[in-house]
Amino acid sequence: MAERIELKHAPRSAKEGRMDDVEWLPAPLTASRVRVRRPQHGDEAALVALFTDEDVRQFVGGPLGTDDAQRRAARIVADGSWGDFVVEILAERAVIGSGDLRRKRGPWEISYQFDRAYWGLGLASEMLTALVSWFFAATDENLLIAVTQDANRRSAQLLERAGGRSSGTFQQYGAVQRRYEFRRGSVSCGGDA
Ligand SMILES: CC(C)(COP(=O)(O)OP(=O)(O)OC[C@H]1O[C@@H](n2cnc3c(N)ncnc32)[C@H](O)[C@@H]1OP(=O)(O)O)[C@@H](O)C(=O)NCCC(=O)NCCS
Repeated sequence: MAERIELKHAPRSAKEGRMDDVEWLPAPLTASRVRVRRPQHGDEAALVALFTDEDVRQFVGGPLGTDDAQRRAARIVADGSWGDFVVEILAERAVIGSGDLRRKRGPWEISYQFDRAYWGLGLASEMLTALVSWFFAATDENLLIAVTQDANRRSAQLLERAGGRSSGTFQQYGAVQRRYEFRRGSVSCGGDA
């Protein structure tokens, strides 16, 4: 049984977590059926659809109102921040998912969301494998985490399928959260990226 972990920020060394010299996705990551790339103008409508969807947002704070969703989508596209990504399905050239890599609570952490119509097809697994592989190849980091509500079965299965190891639970936002770890050298790299 995984230990129960304290929610606290990991100490940061001067170098740890700095990505000044690492370009964020200099080229899209292409897997069998999806492409992971930086957000760009034209992605706003797909992002708004994700942010306002009840199913997609069930375990990530609930759906945003349309105005908030439009503001967030516009900001993501305009800012071009390190870590923001969208997922395109190659067959349709349509954006079906999005997410980010951030230091939210210490280590680098990946979050993601996919359009409900594209769940259950292994497309998120392609995205995750491609991004985790890229992260360890492009940076000197040894740890990437993901945090998901314990009740979010799909997300937990996705993380385990991609080689994530559960490292404990903690309470946040009124729910039990489970932390998963990906470590350099212990990742299942099944993607083409
Ligand atoms: C979390 C989320 C991305 C998972 O999506 P998903 O489609 O279930 O994940 P996967 O890509 O791993 O697909 C797995 C399913 O595809 C099936 N599958 C089909 N072909 C596959 C393939 N080639 N490879 C892997 N799985 C495949 C699996 O059997 C599995 O089916 P099941 O759900 O019936 O068991 C999605 O549920 C989501 O966007 N949720 C809302 C946002 C959210 O909660 N995010 C987490 C917070 S960080």
